[in-house]
Amino acid sequence: MKRTALIGHLNDSHLDQPVTIQGWVNRRRDLGGLIFLEVRDRSGLVQVQVEPDSPAFAEADTLRGEYVVEIGGQFQRRPESQRKGGLADFEVLASRVTVLNTAKTPPFELDKGDSVSEDVRLKYRYLDLRRAEMQKNLLLRSKAVAAITEFLDTEGFVQVETPMLTKSTPEGARDFLVPSRLNAGEFYALPQSPQLFKQLLMIAGYDRYYQLARCFRDEDLRADRQPDFTQLDMEMSFVTQDDVLEVQERLMAHVFKRVLDVDLPLPFPRMSYQDAMDKFGSDKPDLRFGLEFVDVTEIFKRGEFKAFASAQTVKVIAAPELTRKQIDELERIAKQNGAGGLAWLKRDGDAFTGGISKFVGSVTAQLIEKTGVPDGGTLLFAAGEWKKAVGALGAVRLSVRDLFDLAKAGPQFHVSWVVDFPQLEYDEDNAAWTYMHHPFTAPHPEDISLFGTERQGEIRAQAYDLVLNGYEVGGGSVRIHQPGVQAQMFQAIGFTEAEAREKFGFFMDALEYGTPPHGGIAWGFDRLIMVMSGANSIREVIAFPKNNRGVDLMALAPSPVDERQLAELSVAVASGTSD
Ligand code: AMO
Repeated sequence: MKRTALIGHLNDSHLDQPVTIQGWVNRRRDLGGLIFLEVRDRSGLVQVQVEPDSPAFAEADTLRGEYVVEIGGQFQRRPESQRKGGLADFEVLASRVTVLNTAKTPPFELDKGDSVSEDVRLKYRYLDLRRAEMQKNLLLRSKAVAAITEFLDTEGFVQVETPMLTKSTPEGARDFLVPSRLNAGEFYALPQSPQLFKQLLMIAGYDRYYQLARCFRDEDLRADRQPDFTQLDMEMSFVTQDDVLEVQERLMAHVFKRVLDVDLPLPFPRMSYQDAMDKFGSDKPDLRFGLEFVDVTEIFKRGEFKAFASAQTVKVIAAPELTRKQIDELERIAKQNGAGGLAWLKRDGDAFTGGISKFVGSVTAQLIEKTGVPDGGTLLFAAGEWKKAVGALGAVRLSVRDLFDLAKAGPQFHVSWVVDFPQLEYDEDNAAWTYMHHPFTAPHPEDISLFGTERQGEIRAQAYDLVLNGYEVGGGSVRIHQPGVQAQMFQAIGFTEAEAREKFGFFMDALEYGTPPHGGIAWGFDRLIMVMSGANSIREVIAFPKNNRGVDLMALAPSPVDERQLAELSVAVASGTSD
């Protein structure tokens, strides 16, 4: 290439020698007849000085921000008084400036990208992606892919691609559908995950599979969700749950070491779903800090405080001192998450004040002892039906974390497993049992006999989630490999034989042709990179994401299509739904 090196790679060895750089004008300043430029490429920035008597001066004088330039000159050290360390100690004294392209004035200052509205950044994403912060995130992402490939290749995983135009896969979201022109009136579904294909690859004898797979889910969007996202999808044959977790731990440690030079302590702690909910009110507990729930159901049983005396569960967290305003805000969060309210107490020496203090006189000492609340601290209670109470207090716990920046005191990254999820979940809205992970997840062998009994809600699945700093960054399971158990599972979730055949007939057939025991997992790759890069939204680590309404503001997708295209696809848009 014509350039000597990427700007960030210029170093002592280029000192006092002619160099050629190519990049963008980051900034231009005129000082007493001298022109100072900052020239930028992917790797860094360097100052370029153009003196008034330089042959390059006239061309340099035409430069504006974001022009594309090629600069030839001498690479030299800046005067001692101007050195700042690193590349800022050097400059290029230009003898040649060539404009490779001009540029319109950008709609926002790239240096101030942080304060620009996200909609503007997304509309001009190609400019937003020029910012150092975005480049850092995408390079980190690319390094993680390289580390993953390196590790899995060494461990004997085979990379296989699976179809994008396929049939519905049951991951619990709505499908995106694609009309078929050649089969009028019929639709493909975009895969919510490659779940069935990877299991078929195990049946086909590939032993270990992986893929960075694009997945598509039509669901409500949040900061950690996109309608199309990337999974690191893996599957292994002849394994137990422990075998899968062990490889995953080494892979995760390898990625953190290679990409961030961070040593993750192994093995990752494991917590059952039951414990995670019971102690932290979440199936993806943020374990960088404490604030574990204390169970005080027994203390209040049959006591004077009627609201708690009859509750199935009473849980409490001991928070730091809180103002009334903060308590009101936390109560709002508790209610948003299904609680009737948020009872509270403030410790004042050997007594409690505020909140429900007039009802707890007789149990004051017990509460102080059991919760360890320090003087001035606040107790926050949730009471009621177990799942609702722990869920609401779990949300309050995270808000207290954010109020006091509690996670900061813990490790930068905390990875753990949540295991033993329930196999089945009762769906109140549809008054029916449904799967919790997906219908191909294997139950614990000793719980299989509970299928079809009134205790089937207690069946534990051989399912596990990978949790990083309070985010679910992966989920997987050992799979059902015996057709008989698969049939029991379908029956438990109310699929008739005919319905199951209609949806997954091909898969049920395949199960009968010699299926090895197998299991796997998928990482939410975007989420992982989000946490690794310290970003607070997955849109910061995806080159061309959709906004929180599912719109690509740059390409303007989705968009209406013309009548002819619709007619070719035998699709009609219901009137009133399109403008
Ligand atoms: P699951 O549905 O748990 O499992 O998905 C695996 C991981 O993918 C991530 N994820 C998402 N990331 C961004 N946007 C979304 N809309 C989104 N939805 C999910 C999460 C999640 O942990 N086939 C199974 C895996 C298996 O059993 O092997 C599956 O897809 O981080």
